[in-house]
Amino acid sequence: MNRIMTVAVAGAALAMGVATEAVAQAKPDVLVKQRQAAMTLIGKYWGPIAGMASGKVPYNAEAVSRNATYLENLSQMPWDGFHESTRGEKSRALPEAYSQKAKFDEIADRMQAEIAKLGAAARAKSEAGVKAQFGAVGKTCGGCHDSFRAK
Ligand code: HEC
Repeated sequence: MNRIMTVAVAGAALAMGVATEAVAQAKPDVLVKQRQAAMTLIGKYWGPIAGMASGKVPYNAEAVSRNATYLENLSQMPWDGFHESTRGEKSRALPEAYSQKAKFDEIADRMQAEIAKLGAAARAKSEAGVKAQFGAVGKTCGGCHDSFRAK
């Protein structure tokens, strides 16, 4: 029993080591492309929600539920791409994204938390809940872009 557990724990530690290395070894230009791809998809699925929640497009609860669930997953993906090694790469990330990392991470965490609430309201098919939560998510996008993204 103990031996089996030791082997299992060692296996898990090894798997984690491999995952951490995979991130550390990705080339800086690849990390930039990947984080931009994640942001592009976040924009893709956010756009229709923003249109519907602000009344510019007719509300479709199915589409909002699907998009918000995609966003919940996508909102976890860009962040390891803002690795220190990418500082010198050409991108729209401002130097402050690295020098004020705690503030950057705090907004990234808040965005994920607000999107999780949006997803819950969307899956419950609560149009009022989505409309009430939409502004809080939008604020995290704008807040981060204002401080950390070149115009
Ligand atoms: C914690 C910071 C942060 C948050 C939160 C954030 N973004 Fe971004 N976003 C960035 C940065 C930095 C870039 C520029 C990345 C680069 O060029 O490498 C960016 C780029 C983008 C792009 C352009 C992608 C491209 O390369 O063409 C889109 C679209 C985008 N964000 C949409 C959103 C939306 C929508 C939200 C909210 C739902 C959001 N972002 C939340 C930091 C953030």
